[in-house]
Amino acid sequence: MKFFIDTANLDQIREAQDLGVLDGVTTNPSLMAKEGISGKENIINHYKTICEIVDGDVSAEVISTDYEGIIKEGEELAALHEQIVVKVPMIKDGIKAIKYFSSKGIKTNCTLVFSAGQALLAAKAGATYVSPFIGRLDDVSTDGVELISQIVEMYNYYEFETQVLAASIRHTMHIIQCMEVGADVATCPLSAITGLLNHPLTDIGLEKFLADYKKVNG
Ligand code: G3P
Repeated sequence: MKFFIDTANLDQIREAQDLGVLDGVTTNPSLMAKEGISGKENIINHYKTICEIVDGDVSAEVISTDYEGIIKEGEELAALHEQIVVKVPMIKDGIKAIKYFSSKGIKTNCTLVFSAGQALLAAKAGATYVSPFIGRLDDVSTDGVELISQIVEMYNYYEFETQVLAASIRHTMHIIQCMEVGADVATCPLSAITGLLNHPLTDIGLEKFLADYKKVNG
C-alpha cells in the first residue's frame, strides 16, 4: 500500500519524505488555504516546490466546475511538472473532463467520492485514482472503510486499473483498516503516519535493552 501525505504544509511534507516511506502528496483548496497560499502564481510555485521535495505523484485540485474550465485549469496544472495529478471533483463535468484527460495521458484523481456508484463512474472515465473520503462518511455514521472494501472488490472484479486512494483518513486505525481491505493508497495526515511508529511495548523493550547494555558496559 502506498502512503501519500494529505497536506500542503512543506515542513510536514519534508518530514514525511525524510522518513523514507512517502509515495506522494495530496492537496485540496482547503489545505492550501490553511497554509495561507493564495493567488495563481503562489499556488503554482507551491505545487512546484512540493514536486521538488517528493518523488511521487502530487495531486493538485482544479477549482473550476464547468467542463471547459476544468480542462483549461487541468492542462495548466499538468504542464507544471510530470508528477502532477489533476484532482477533479466527482461532478458531471468532472467525469467528462477525466475522460478527456485520460485520453491525453494526463493523470487524474477523482475527489469527493462517497459511494460505489460514483467510484464506478470514475473508473469508467479512466481516472488514475479515486478518492473516497472515509472520515467524512464516519462523521455521518456511515462506515467509510466498508466503502473502500466495496470499491476494491468492484475494481478487482471488473479489472479496472483505477487505484483506490483512501482519503479523509483521520488516525492510524483507519490506515490499518484500509490496508486490510486492500486500498492501493492511503493519504494521511502526518500524525497518522508517525502514529504507526508507536507501541508501548517497543518503548519498554528498548528501555530494557539499553539498561541491560549499560549494566555490563557502563
Ligand atoms: O484527502 C481529502 C481530505 O483532505 C479530506 O480530509 O479530514 O477534511 O475530511 P478531511
